Amino acid sequence: MYPHHLLSQSFVVLVVLGLIGFVQAGDGCSKANAIRVNALRFRLSVSPSTTDSSTVSSWSKGGGPRGMIPINVANLTNPFSGREYASGSRDNILGTRAYGSGYPYGVSDVTTIKGRPFPHSMWPISWGPGYLGGEEYWGDDIDLIRPGGMLGVVNVSTKDTTKWPNVSSEEVYTMIGDKESLTFMIADLVRICHATPGWPRAFDPVTNSSSSSPSSAQPKPQNVIQYYRSSSFALSYSGYNNTFALPSSNPTTNHDSDPLPGLIVNSAFLSCVNDTIRASLPLMDSLPGKKGLSKGAIAGIVIGSVLGAIIVSFWCWAIYIGKK
Ligand SMILES: *[C@@H]1O[C@H](CO)[C@@H](O)[C@H](O)[C@H]1NC(C)=O
Ligand SMILES: *[C@@H]1O[C@H](CO)[C@@H](O)[C@H](O)[C@H]1NC(C)=O
Repeated sequence: MYPHHLLSQSFVVLVVLGLIGFVQAGDGCSKANAIRVNALRFRLSVSPSTTDSSTVSSWSKGGGPRGMIPINVANLTNPFSGREYASGSRDNILGTRAYGSGYPYGVSDVTTIKGRPFPHSMWPISWGPGYLGGEEYWGDDIDLIRPGGMLGVVNVSTKDTTKWPNVSSEEVYTMIGDKESLTFMIADLVRICHATPGWPRAFDPVTNSSSSSPSSAQPKPQNVIQYYRSSSFALSYSGYNNTFALPSSNPTTNHDSDPLPGLIVNSAFLSCVNDTIRASLPLMDSLPGKKGLSKGAIAGIVIGSVLGAIIVSFWCWAIYIGKK
């Protein structure tokens, strides 16, 4: 027989453990809601068939095997059919300040991005015809089927001088990318870096916009301070004039770059923006590997998840009822 005091101690421990369990379940319920608003997932289709669709998710690790864009599916050929895509990961999401940088594979010619695969599955930004082969990814019809939607731009600045005491009012950056990635990224930067919210606007690198106000100005290749995700996303700063990227200096996809201006080179706000884009920019989830899970394992996972969901829902419901 156990001594009496040991039994009562065990009882206290059990009660405490039970309480911790309940508190964690409550936390799980609010976290589940938080994940719903803080994450993004959308479909990426390499043909009009759902069997050729994958998911792109914020915070995803990416990676996995490469795929090939199918040729002539139901006579609806992808403009890039036969090219490889996927396998790019969060670890190699960072490019440089050169358009066409950040490709983990598929670089056979540094004078053009024409004919390249899609290592991070998203299509590169296009600066319009005549800039390093980007005309392949340019035009209204192409933009309509672009993974993540048409290209746009959105400004990134902050008014929170408590969080960023040294930030300058001239620190207005611009993100360039597909609609889904842009709208997710600006919301994420508002949350994490206290950026000022703003809606994206259309990307128009071709029309000469030198007369427009800075808030509506369009970025140029020489303004880009960082490319990401096989050059499908970029951050620019209008006060940066990278002479190596000027069309007149015959740029390549691995060219050098001028140093960043003194005003932004040590900016803590810029670091936050850059680090957050690297960490959370939507990325295609790994394609299924060749060695799939056995049917038994899949059934186990499905039953496990369903049971788990039922238990969590019941727990949340019980807490909800308890709070009423
Ligand atoms: C973004 O972060 C990476 C990694 O720290 C760094 O190499 C790169 O220079 C940064 N880009 C900018 C524009 O600060
Ligand atoms: C950028 O640099 C080039 C070459 O030095 C110069 O011709 C051009 O005027 C500069 N543009 C801006 C906006 O400063």
